[in-house]
Order: sequence, then C-alpha cells, then structure tokens
Amino acid sequence: MSPFTTTIILLSLATGTIITATSYHWLMAWIGLELNTLAIIPIISKQHHPRATEAATKYFLTQAAASALILFSSTINAWYSGTWDIMQMTNNTSNILLTMALAMKLGLAPTHFWLPEVLQGTSMMTALIISTWQKLAPMALIIIMSNNLSYTVLMTTGIMSAMVGGWGGLNQTQTRKIMAYSSIAHLGWMAAITPMMTNLLILNLIIYLFMTTSMFLMLLLSKSKTLQDVSTLWALSPTLMIMTMLTLLSLGGLPPLTGFIPKWLILQELTTQNMLTVAVTMALSALLSLFFYLRLTYMMTLTTPPNTAMLKHKWRFNYLNNTKPLSISLTLSILLLPIVPMILL
Ligand SMILES: *[C@@H]1O[C@H](CO)[C@@H](O)[C@H](O)[C@H]1NC(C)=O
Repeated sequence: MSPFTTTIILLSLATGTIITATSYHWLMAWIGLELNTLAIIPIISKQHHPRATEAATKYFLTQAAASALILFSSTINAWYSGTWDIMQMTNNTSNILLTMALAMKLGLAPTHFWLPEVLQGTSMMTALIISTWQKLAPMALIIIMSNNLSYTVLMTTGIMSAMVGGWGGLNQTQTRKIMAYSSIAHLGWMAAITPMMTNLLILNLIIYLFMTTSMFLMLLLSKSKTLQDVSTLWALSPTLMIMTMLTLLSLGGLPPLTGFIPKWLILQELTTQNMLTVAVTMALSALLSLFFYLRLTYMMTLTTPPNTAMLKHKWRFNYLNNTKPLSISLTLSILLLPIVPMILL
C-alpha cells in the first residue's frame, strides 16, 4: 500500500472510533462504526491471498449485520419515544436488540464464531488492530449505555463467553486462534461486570489492551504463528522468552502480575452482590483459559523440542529492530498490581 493510502485508511480508522465515542445521535454513532469497519477491510485484505479475502468478507458481513441491528434498534426506539438521543433508550425491545448487536460486534458468545477465523486469516499486525483498537468503539457505546443495556443478555453472554473462550482455546495450536479465544474470554468478564460496575469494565478493558498488545507484539517480533514456532523463542532472545512467559501468566490472571487485578476485583464485586453461582462459574472458566496459557508457557520455556530444518534459521535474521512499544506494554502488563490501592481509594 502506498504511504498516502495507508495514512488515509489509518486516519479513517481512528476517526470512526472517535466519532462513535463522542456522538449523542444514533445516526452519528452508526456512521462511526461503519467508517471503522470500512477502513479496516483494505487492511485485512491487503495480502492478496484467498484466506485474507475470506477473512475480510467474514469481518465485513458480521460487522455490517451488527451495525444494521444497532440502527434497527435505535429506529424502534425513535419510533416509540420520538428521540434519536443515545442517552434516551427507553424501549425494552430495542435495548435487548442493541445489547445483542454490541455483543456481536465485540465477538462475544454465542456470536463469536467470526473472531478466530478473521484473526487467523490476517497478518499478525492486523490481528493486533482487530483485537485491540476495533473493540474500542463498541465498548464506548457499552460504557455510555451501561444503565440501559439488558441485564439478562449481558450476564448470559458474559458467562457464555468466559466458558466458550476457555473451552475453545484448549484445542488450538495456532497462536492467533489462541489469542482470539483469549479475547473472547476476557470480553466475557467485561460483559458480566457491566451491569454492576462500569468502572471495572473500563479497568479490565485497559489491562486487556496492554496484555494483548504485548502478546501480539512478541508474536510479531518472533514471527511465531504456531505453538511449534513459540518453542524456539529461547534461541532468539532468552529475555524476551521470560517476559513473554510473564505476560502469558498475567493473561491467565495469576497473582503478582497485572492480570490478577480485573479477576480479583470482578470476583469480589460479584460476591458482594451475592451472585455466587456466576462468580464460581467465571472462576472455573478462568481455569480453562489458564490451561492453554500454561501450555503455551510450557512449550516456550520448559521444553527443547526437536528442531526441523525449517526452524534452524530462526535466530539468524535480525528481528529485534524496534522493541520500544513492546517494552512499554510489557512493563504495564506485568508490573501494575501495586496500583490496586490507588483504584480502590
Ligand atoms: C417497544 O417497542 C415494541 C415494538 O418493537 C412495542 O411493541 C412496545 O410497545 C414498545 N414499548 C414502549 C414502552 O414504547
């Protein structure tokens, strides 16, 4: 792509999210979402490969359907209440429809099927954009609308996503698909806490963005596409291997690391609200996610696999050229736990 085209596309991507996050009229919110979708389509389908084209088609169809559903629900609301204001969603039917449409945009279960396929069909950098920046616009709408969204739909989709994210990741050997299921599980936790405490949703989203960014940047730097590629990371850079191990444990939510903050605070809030069944289900589904993070850790740090001739050249190329973004996001996704007293006070 020429620098001119790239600039226009990336600017449109940023503008779409900003328009959605700052709008008060449903039509503007929808325009922002559409701009976002249309800008990422050429990024996904840039490599002229059938897989990329398929991923772009799947992404476009699901996102356009979800946007149409959002427009439909706001039209129903405008029909009965006479206003297009985002804040005044009073009709129950349209709130349920809107919640389901936002869940579909984010890739929450049971409408999550597109996410692993789209991530697998694109490059690692595009997968990073789809699983981080592209979540911001629907999340902004969820945060604005959190008082009106359907409680039942959010709780159901949240619990289902946490379970599907853990369960689905167990069977994967491709790192991008594992990251897709990890994303589904994390967004499930966010959806389940939305009706009770939107602040925790924002906190969890920020921490998820740091952890996912550092994981994808590491996979990008080491060119790791499968579990097998990950197992030769020690030869590329032992330091990077240790940091990646810590990021994976942080994604799994283990205590001295950043990833423990959202798990801890969300389980605490759910228990305070006497939702013990939900809390126990979420905690148990986190074990499923932890299993595949630990398997990735095990492949990376504790085994010396038999190398094939294909993998022999891995450390001969100069890969580690720009590690500044990675070092920032790695630090934030490992060492943030001490800020918890600041959040709680
Ligand atoms: C909400 O919309 C539905 C149709 O979709 C309608 O039947 C119902 O009366 C509306 N409710 C209110 C309170 O306007």
